[in-house]
Amino acid sequence: MASDLLELLNASKDYVSGQTIAGKLGISRNAVWKALQRLRSEGYDIEAVPRKGYRLISSEAAFGQKSIAAALHTQWLGKELLFFSEIDSTNEEIRRRSRKGAKEGLMAVADRQTDGRGRRGRGWTSPAGTSLMFSFLLRPVFPPETAPMLTLVMAIAVSRGISGECGVKTGIKWPNDIVLNGKKLVGILTEMSVEPDYIQEVIIGTGINVSVKDFPAELNTTATSLFLETGKHFSRAGILAAVSEEFERCYAVFCEDRNLKRLAGEYEQLCVNKGKRVRVLDPKGEYEAQAGGIDEYGQLLVTLDSGEKRSVYAGEVSVRGIYGYI
Ligand code: BTN
Repeated sequence: MASDLLELLNASKDYVSGQTIAGKLGISRNAVWKALQRLRSEGYDIEAVPRKGYRLISSEAAFGQKSIAAALHTQWLGKELLFFSEIDSTNEEIRRRSRKGAKEGLMAVADRQTDGRGRRGRGWTSPAGTSLMFSFLLRPVFPPETAPMLTLVMAIAVSRGISGECGVKTGIKWPNDIVLNGKKLVGILTEMSVEPDYIQEVIIGTGINVSVKDFPAELNTTATSLFLETGKHFSRAGILAAVSEEFERCYAVFCEDRNLKRLAGEYEQLCVNKGKRVRVLDPKGEYEAQAGGIDEYGQLLVTLDSGEKRSVYAGEVSVRGIYGYI
């Protein structure tokens, strides 16, 4: 609701009365008031003038240390919070802090990255003000082979957090791309440092295309943003808060089980590959198959035309739809 109000105020250069807002959004005056308070608590500067209404003065402050801290209602994630207007990479910053002994839950958020990193050695760039980029540090005490599953845990949290906060239906392209209307909305980069018998650190970095208006030609057909899909601007602090709270919930379940048994159902409901024909890009040889769900280790279960069943491990392999990205 706060995001609908933000959109409305954003679109209007003049004051908008509480009654007009209530009418346009189909909510009570009381709900308008609550949504206003929420936006203000996130740092939006909204002027209220008796008999005229409300006007958005500036949203510049809306994404910074203060507004993010105000929006976060987590137990432990992001309690230690770093905000950067510009940084090389939030994953890299977390790694530097981790090496100096930072604790689990440290979160770094940036408005712009100068050396943002994507998976498979690719980069990740977005203009300032358009994207939600953040990373956090985990120090799980479970065996090293368990750690890669955390990227699927994060995928559930990101998909659910965005859907809940923005009222859109996102899905997961196995293992951890978040998609909206068939295009990639979010990338997750999980980096870990492990010793033979313990995990030193896991850094999960997420880039969400919030208000990006255009993408480089090579990404145009596969990438999208919340703005491009909905025509609306959403609060980055609000999205971060929703995702973080979802992550705490999912991570608690995962830490108890050390596998995805209890989270697999939730994952499969979001997984856009399930029940679809996929092309498995296995370095040992590509093939087509029918995708099922995932097993408790996060492997994608596929059935080949011959009837042979295989479990696909995300570390080496990715999948595509047979007609394109999904
Ligand atoms: C992908 O290639 O799909 C993963 C992209 C991950 C990008 C995020 S943005 C925040 C964090 N910092 C980085 O340098 N990368 C991740």
